[in-house]
Amino acid sequence: APIFAPDLSQCGDANVPLRKSPGTNVSVHCCPPVSTNIIDFKPPRFTKTRTRQPAHLVSPDYVENFKEAIKRMKALDEKDPRSFTQQAKVHCAYCNSAYEQMGFPSQDLQVHNSWLFFPFHRLYLYFFERILGKLIDDPDFALPFWNWDDPDGMTIPDIYVDPLSPLYDAKRNPDHQPPVLVDLDYSSDKNLPRDDQIKANLCVMNSQMVHGTTTTTLFHGKEYRMGYSPDPGAGTIENGVHLSLHKWVGDPSQPLKEDMGNFYSAGYDPLFYAHHANIDRMWNLWKNGLKVPHCDFKDTDWLDSSFLFYDENANLVRARVGDCIDTKTLGYDYQQVELKWLEYEC
Ligand code: C2O
Repeated sequence: APIFAPDLSQCGDANVPLRKSPGTNVSVHCCPPVSTNIIDFKPPRFTKTRTRQPAHLVSPDYVENFKEAIKRMKALDEKDPRSFTQQAKVHCAYCNSAYEQMGFPSQDLQVHNSWLFFPFHRLYLYFFERILGKLIDDPDFALPFWNWDDPDGMTIPDIYVDPLSPLYDAKRNPDHQPPVLVDLDYSSDKNLPRDDQIKANLCVMNSQMVHGTTTTTLFHGKEYRMGYSPDPGAGTIENGVHLSLHKWVGDPSQPLKEDMGNFYSAGYDPLFYAHHANIDRMWNLWKNGLKVPHCDFKDTDWLDSSFLFYDENANLVRARVGDCIDTKTLGYDYQQVELKWLEYEC
């Protein structure tokens, strides 16, 4: 059976493992407001496709709109499920065992390290984007993506580093500010010369998107059905560039590498959503953008897995994996940019 959307009234404190003392957890309260009226998601009709653009290439007008939208989201009452704080908590609740599996209270619900990774984060960003669009009265608003797979996008995008901007987050590694290049295979600082870092990054991209992902499971992660223990196994991208950048951005001097370096806090950094937009773009590219097209799972346990999100009107919505496998039905797509890693020999 599929993993069903959780019962929000059963949400408990999330557990965040303490790095320095393994086996001990800190409790974090990140449950959403409860609503008993649940609507089944139907993709709304769109007249125009929203195009997500690379964050380092957006226009000044776009940036002003985007900042205004995030500012308004941060200004909403904390109890509003659409507020920035509540949106960040969505990630915490789904990632740090605040929910149990429906029908299997002894098993935690976890959206990482399995085939739920890509669809959960796609839907999460979809609702986040729709809320922002609503707040600035622009139904065509699209999130930017952090184009870290392109040499020109391999630093934290400038729009996120101005301390006075609502896109800024103080809890980031101070040693990784622009012009320092990202390390897509990060565990500790290697301080490679610029060209070598670019080559190493393109090589990582090629192996995690092309060579290393010949099967659906290698890309998406392992199957995770009702009653299964969490974390059966992540796909190449989730385990690779995805985690590397979380660690690379988070502040090592914070107790739990906040914000990006820990699942419970990652959503508090506006950069998280641009990072995950690029992860989401990788799913589209893997399916249709490479030389060989790939297929998603056809398994109904995957397609019928579901999650709950609050939409732009603060209604509680149940969305299935099967609702999100094509971004065009969700009304958005990604701007095409050259893929320098596609043919990259390493
Ligand atoms: Cu839900 Cu990048 O993690």
